Amino acid sequence: MNLKSNLIFTLYTIYGILLKVMASKGKVRGISGQYPLVQNVTVTEGGMANLTCRVEYNDNTSLQWSNPAQQTLFFGDKKALRDNRIELVRATSSELTISINDVTLGDEGLYTCSLFTMPVRTAKAYLTVLGVPEKPEINGLTKPAMEGDHITLTCITQGSKPAADLRWFRNEKEVKGAKEVNASGKTFTVRSSLQLHVDRNDDGVAYTCRVDHVALAQAPQQATEVLEVHYAPRVEIIKSTTVPQEGQYLKLECFSRGNPSPDPVMWTKDGGDLPDLDRIIVQGRELAFTSLNKTDNGTYRCEASNHLGTSSAEYVLYVYDAPTTLPPSTTPPLHPIPPDPTVQLSTHASDPTVTGSRDPNALGQHGTDHALIGGVVAVVVFVTLCLIIVLGRYLARHKGTYLTNEAKGADDAPDADTAIINAEGNHAHAEEKKEYFI
Ligand SMILES: *[C@@H]1O[C@H](CO)[C@@H](O)[C@H](O)[C@H]1NC(C)=O
Ligand SMILES: *[C@@H]1O[C@H](CO)[C@@H](O)[C@H](O)[C@H]1NC(C)=O
Ligand SMILES: *[C@@H]1O[C@H](CO)[C@@H](O)[C@H](O)[C@H]1NC(C)=O
Ligand SMILES: *[C@@H]1O[C@H](CO)[C@@H](O)[C@H](O)[C@H]1NC(C)=O
Ligand SMILES: *[C@@H]1O[C@H](CO)[C@@H](O)[C@H](O)[C@H]1NC(C)=O
Ligand SMILES: *[C@@H]1O[C@H](CO)[C@@H](O)[C@H](O)[C@H]1NC(C)=O
Repeated sequence: MNLKSNLIFTLYTIYGILLKVMASKGKVRGISGQYPLVQNVTVTEGGMANLTCRVEYNDNTSLQWSNPAQQTLFFGDKKALRDNRIELVRATSSELTISINDVTLGDEGLYTCSLFTMPVRTAKAYLTVLGVPEKPEINGLTKPAMEGDHITLTCITQGSKPAADLRWFRNEKEVKGAKEVNASGKTFTVRSSLQLHVDRNDDGVAYTCRVDHVALAQAPQQATEVLEVHYAPRVEIIKSTTVPQEGQYLKLECFSRGNPSPDPVMWTKDGGDLPDLDRIIVQGRELAFTSLNKTDNGTYRCEASNHLGTSSAEYVLYVYDAPTTLPPSTTPPLHPIPPDPTVQLSTHASDPTVTGSRDPNALGQHGTDHALIGGVVAVVVFVTLCLIIVLGRYLARHKGTYLTNEAKGADDAPDADTAIINAEGNHAHAEEKKEYFI
């Protein structure tokens, strides 16, 4: 009896120990995974952020989210703070997820998830809020600008976080501006300025300021201004033929470029009105002679102006004799070279098209002159070279003979007298040597 009960007691004891060991093992395993896990979150201002807190193993212990000001937002599935932007997404024993809608920059900070074990375990998630830069604004543009003006374009964007980057483009091509960043509260004001020395080539050019920012990944914000530049006219006369001959048709066209557009243009001849002839037709910027006559010789002038100034170009017309037998293209001009019948500009001839319109005849003349001079120089150089070579050979022959004689005598002789004798004796050898030397 005693033995039996003792045995039973022992068995129970062993069972109890086993249970305790198993229980403690289970408990150790449970505690090892019983801590909250969170992740940092980045959200754009005005967007929605989900804050998730997970526990791997949980024995129904409560989870809680609190904000950077240590206010409890949710305790399990129970809402603790009155803020209808904050909602419950999911509450289970292993997860507590809440969402914050319409996020503001003020929502940024460290959020805490607490697991109410003994002691309490916490995890902190940082909520980063990106400030969206405002649409940029370009200032400092005078419309219209005058050629020669110095202007500074300034582009400003506010409200970015982190500070936005501003870039300038001149007709799509990037140009460098000077950037300045100022903090204003939680966000940044970024300003970039571009200094311009305006000229006529800037007329109609588009300057774009673009904002680059993480919060604008898909659609960068930008502003564009198109420059309008006013400038005085520049005039040029284009002629339909370079060698005007009697009886031919001739058209003079007055090209003027200016802003505002200099219309109409004015034609004069030798400082006075154009002769009133049927052969002379003026139409807009064109002056046409239906059949040239030698009496048309003279200086024709075209003038254009706008409120910024006046510009003119002149053309000296010299009417050649009519072609006799051969077609004009193959007939070389028989007359003396006339006063240069090319465009003469009274404004600065910096425009390359102006120099390009010079009389090709004149250029051809220069060409033959150069060729002739070149030929003469070449012949002179050749003759001089020949002379130098012949002279050189002659001198070398004589000098060589002399050196050989002296060297021979000096080498073999024990004294000066013998040297002279030897030298005379070796004369025949020297003659032979001379042959190789040359
Ligand atoms: C937040 O969670 C909700 C529900 O799961 C989901 O519809 C939404 O897209 C999530 N928002 C973000 C920003 O992850
Ligand atoms: C958690 O609570 C539920 C009822 O609320 C219960 O059925 C379950 O057994 C509990 N789990 C643990 C591990 O205590
Ligand atoms: C979360 O953000 C905080 C503060 O910016 C930082 O110290 C921490 O390392 C971040 N944690 C992770 C997992 O990125
Ligand atoms: C930045 O601050 C400086 C000095 O306070 C000021 O002169 C400047 O105008 C500011 N720039 C911007 C873009 O606000
Ligand atoms: C040129 O004009 C004069 C006088 O106007 C005229 O006599 C002459 O025939 C004209 N010459 C030609 C080639 O038309
Ligand atoms: C015009 O130029 C031609 C040269 O071809 C000359 O013979 C003629 O006398 C000139 N006429 C006048 C009116 O100057």
